[in-house]
Amino acid sequence: MSKTTVSLIKADIGGYPGHASVHPDLIKLAEEKLTDALKSGLLVDFKVMAAGDDLQLMMGHTKGVDNPEIHKLAWDTFVAGTNVAKELKLYGAGQDMLADAFSGNVKGMGPGIAELEFTERKGEPLVAYMMDKTEPGAFNLPIFRIFADPFNTAGLVIDPSAHAGFKFEIWDIQEHTRVFMNAPEEMYEMLALIGAKSRYVIKRVYPKESSPLPSDEAVAAISTEKLFQTAGKYVGKDDPVALVRAQSGLPALGEVLEPFAFPHLVSGWMRGSHNGPLMPVSFDNARCTRFDGPPRVIAAGFQISNARLIGPVDLFDDPGFDEARQIAGTIATYMRRHGPFEPHRLPMEDMEYTTLPDVLKKLEDRFEPIE
Ligand code: 13P
Ligand code: 13P
Ligand code: MG
Ligand code: MG
Repeated sequence: MSKTTVSLIKADIGGYPGHASVHPDLIKLAEEKLTDALKSGLLVDFKVMAAGDDLQLMMGHTKGVDNPEIHKLAWDTFVAGTNVAKELKLYGAGQDMLADAFSGNVKGMGPGIAELEFTERKGEPLVAYMMDKTEPGAFNLPIFRIFADPFNTAGLVIDPSAHAGFKFEIWDIQEHTRVFMNAPEEMYEMLALIGAKSRYVIKRVYPKESSPLPSDEAVAAISTEKLFQTAGKYVGKDDPVALVRAQSGLPALGEVLEPFAFPHLVSGWMRGSHNGPLMPVSFDNARCTRFDGPPRVIAAGFQISNARLIGPVDLFDDPGFDEARQIAGTIATYMRRHGPFEPHRLPMEDMEYTTLPDVLKKLEDRFEPIE
């Protein structure tokens, strides 16, 4: 039996209005393009979704990860969507389309990508997380808690097939290097890295050798494209996505969702330059309005069946997450009251744009030595 691949590729190709949401015409166009690919046999299934102003293409197929045809399909869909966005004069039309022409792989071209190729089990639950107004490092805390924190995931303690823990692939996105680390054995060293979430990001999680699942097939993948680095200048936060498989040797669905009951602080929000709480919301509430936020995450639940995407279920559309939303609202107000002061505003080196060089230039002649 051939393996299944799930590819989630996203881009901001124009906001409506401002950076708030995706215009319905872009969703319609993407559905048409992917329907053509379905008919031609390239895709087995797809779902077009939206998180804030980011258009999300979720595709089920058997072509493997990094497949040029699949990546080209996504790229061409975003190009066609950009034309519609320009016609409607949507805000920042083509914002994430950084390259002029497709070169075989959408990596480094602007869009964000999370892909998993795996042998399907008898039952194959999978959650697609989509965030807006934040960065890939926003996934560090929840992914760590899902796969390494026994206070979050009961299965690490009581499920014999998850008890050995998991292997993490961590990227240094400044140096473009990576390291594989094992939890729980290297948990403290791992936290030393991933706590610095703007630099060290969890890219993938793997089962260990002792797991009933194949240890070379990732069970979670996070998009790590840094628009800041690809573009050389700020063109929008690289709002990340992730795919996480669940159950039968992996954390249960509820364990995969549980970390989001705590609205942790993430970087992004207004102008990509502020810290704020990550609010878990339903699909209908994935519109970034208050101060262009607060940063949001949606969760789409699927059962995968021979590369078909059975779903989605809107997993945060649940009163169980009302308290997290309420706390996020309170934290948003608290953070906002700091106005231009850190730590609401990001430290200088992490700000996506700044007037500081101009301010310093203007004051150049007026700075004097302190005796
Ligand atoms: P069920 O008994 O409903 O299958 O649930 C098992 C489980 O793992 C819940 O987290
Ligand atoms: P996006 O990265 O979602 O486009 O947001 C950019 C921004 O500046 C929000 O204030
Ligand atoms: Mg935008
Ligand atoms: Mg966005």
